[in-house]
Amino acid sequence: MTEPRLAAVVVLAAGEGTRMRSATTPKVLHTLCGRTLLGHVVGAARGLSPRHLVVVVGHAREAVTEALARTDPGARPVVQEEQLGTGHAVRVALAALSEQVGPLDGTVVVVPGDAPLLTTATLSALVDRHAEAGAATTLLTAVLDDPTGYGRVVRDADGAVTSVVEHKDADEPTRALREVATSVYAFDAARLGEALASLTTDNAQGEQYLTDVVGLHRSAGLPVAAAVAQDPGETMGVNDRVQLSQARRLLRDRLVEQHMRAGVTVVDPLTTWVDVQVELAADVVLEPGCSLQGATRVAAGAVVGPDTTLVDCVVGEGASVVRSHCLGAEIGTGADVGPFAYLRPGTRLGARSKAGAFVEVKASTVGEGSKVPHLSYVGDTTIGAGSNLGAATVTVNYDGRDKHRTTIGDGVRVGSDTMLVAPVHIGDGAYTAAGSVITSDVPAGALGVGRAQQRNIEGWVARRRGTPPSAPAEQRDSVDQQGTAP
Ligand code: UD1
Ligand code: CA
Repeated sequence: MTEPRLAAVVVLAAGEGTRMRSATTPKVLHTLCGRTLLGHVVGAARGLSPRHLVVVVGHAREAVTEALARTDPGARPVVQEEQLGTGHAVRVALAALSEQVGPLDGTVVVVPGDAPLLTTATLSALVDRHAEAGAATTLLTAVLDDPTGYGRVVRDADGAVTSVVEHKDADEPTRALREVATSVYAFDAARLGEALASLTTDNAQGEQYLTDVVGLHRSAGLPVAAAVAQDPGETMGVNDRVQLSQARRLLRDRLVEQHMRAGVTVVDPLTTWVDVQVELAADVVLEPGCSLQGATRVAAGAVVGPDTTLVDCVVGEGASVVRSHCLGAEIGTGADVGPFAYLRPGTRLGARSKAGAFVEVKASTVGEGSKVPHLSYVGDTTIGAGSNLGAATVTVNYDGRDKHRTTIGDGVRVGSDTMLVAPVHIGDGAYTAAGSVITSDVPAGALGVGRAQQRNIEGWVARRRGTPPSAPAEQRDSVDQQGTAP
């Protein structure tokens, strides 16, 4: 079918969002599941492939425009200098657009920038309904248990929509209606322009309401159609942080369900958070309490969690990441991470390698099969294959001014509690003695020892403490209590 392409989608994002009570962030830039409110809406709108995608900006326009340019460079920001209402916003958008590209013809879709759960499928169904009905206005409505705050949809005895009345303007019987306007519409461009030109501010908020277009078209005898959203949750607007958390939960449920249907085991969906961009292969297992963020990808058979955060990480097949916090790390096939590891950006763990309990790694490569099992810091380091770092190894990478690199070859055994003072190189197959401070390179195959020689001072205890080493414990205790010990 050769349907004329949708003329434009207008996204409304100029309002301040005072109910968020934020001193730093305009409402539409608050985030859920890895995207801003606006990013979610623009993403759904883009799915319609409109000829023009316009975002009305106003409050904090620099921040909003900048965010938009980063994530959706194809969208065209239009400034609404003063926020005189949703109807005014659309009017400004159409004026700017027709100045830039000529008068619009065909269908214009309007969506609010604060409805992050809207899907392309729902918008597309609305556009189809609009076309079938040959309507001037088609609005998406939702039936809510608690319609407080929303505009109410008023229908006549035949069930045809006659107008939308804002909550603040509604009388008690109208407030009792549970069908609400969602701020999502399909309009005929020309008819929309005419109605917008005759909006008034004669209402409780002194604003030009886009919702009034419905009543204007109806009074003019133009066809008005409505589609009721099948999933009312999808249309929810985010006006405060309580609604933000509700929307985030709904989106989480949707995303986690998609992953489970695609073969991911999610042990506890209620404590599992997955950003929209995250990719999970079939047979990944997510234990309770995980948060997978950004561009994280997890390959088949990997087990993540419990209680693990992955931000922009790549996890290889069959790897295990337990109770760990990982940022920008690449975890190889079959590698073992945690419990309680902290992997920072630039970490690359090779296949079957290990970063174990209380281990921090930064900007370092741990080669295939190499292990850092316990209580270590590895920074700015390259470790070859098959090496082992004993418990409490520390790469001393910072001299107070500059960072330096440590390189460790293949098959190396670093003794427990070794300080590797960078820049330093440990050759293939070399050992270091436990407790060493290694300040110069250790050649391949050598043992590096960098610690004081042990000496034993015979009889020291009896001389200094007056207690023979063989004295029973009670006797020592009574000496202590009498205060005769030094
Ligand atoms: C609006 C609708 C209401 C509907 C509800 C659905 C109107 C008058 N009311 O109410 O019927 O039930 O959405 O969520 O349309 N905006 C601008 N410029 C402005 C004013 C608003 O761009 O001058 C933007 C806001 O940034 C926001 C969107 O329009 O993204 C909706 O505005 P908002 O103030 O949230 O309207 P609601 O009171 O929620
Ligand atoms: Ca709103």
